[in-house]
Amino acid sequence: MNSRASVRECAPKTQALFLVGFMGAGKSSVGEFLGQRLGWPFEDLDVRIQQRDGRSIEQIFAESGEHFFRRIEHEALCTVVEELGTTPRVIALGGGAFAQPENIELLKSAGVATVFLDGSVDELFRRCQDQGRPRPLRSDLELFRKLYDARREHYLSASLRVDTSAKTVEAVANEVVEALGL
Ligand code: S3P
Repeated sequence: MNSRASVRECAPKTQALFLVGFMGAGKSSVGEFLGQRLGWPFEDLDVRIQQRDGRSIEQIFAESGEHFFRRIEHEALCTVVEELGTTPRVIALGGGAFAQPENIELLKSAGVATVFLDGSVDELFRRCQDQGRPRPLRSDLELFRKLYDARREHYLSASLRVDTSAKTVEAVANEVVEALGL
């Protein structure tokens, strides 16, 4: 083994934390709170996508379709992973990102912690309604539930699952901190 390779192996791994899960799980709010609590920078992947593309998520879906969105979502995630250094950070992903095998693979091989914020479908649906943020893939409750069911096994491959049902943002963040020993 040459000395360069061993230096790389000895370099401390980043403590990046990726929040994943369905729409309405609170990934952005919990992420922001966690960032403040831990003193780690927080980033929302959807915000980066919108900045890079110059359009809102809603516009991207309407004008270019979901397939295009998934492509630029993957590219944005690749960039985030490439940028990871030794400074720890918190990143919230959009609800569909951790349901794409290439993104799961990317995060697994990066060795970062992934936290699945879960909740009952009824509550997730209600939260989306209360937030009033346009979400292209939130239609009626039945389709919402089907999409959740289809994605759940992917979410369950995250390093940790936290049930957010009837919990405050602070309580969920505290659970994450405790479970990961941060
Ligand atoms: C999506 C969820 C959204 C956003 C896009 C697609 C999804 O993010 O990325 O509308 O496929 O579930 P939130 O989970 O923050 O709503």
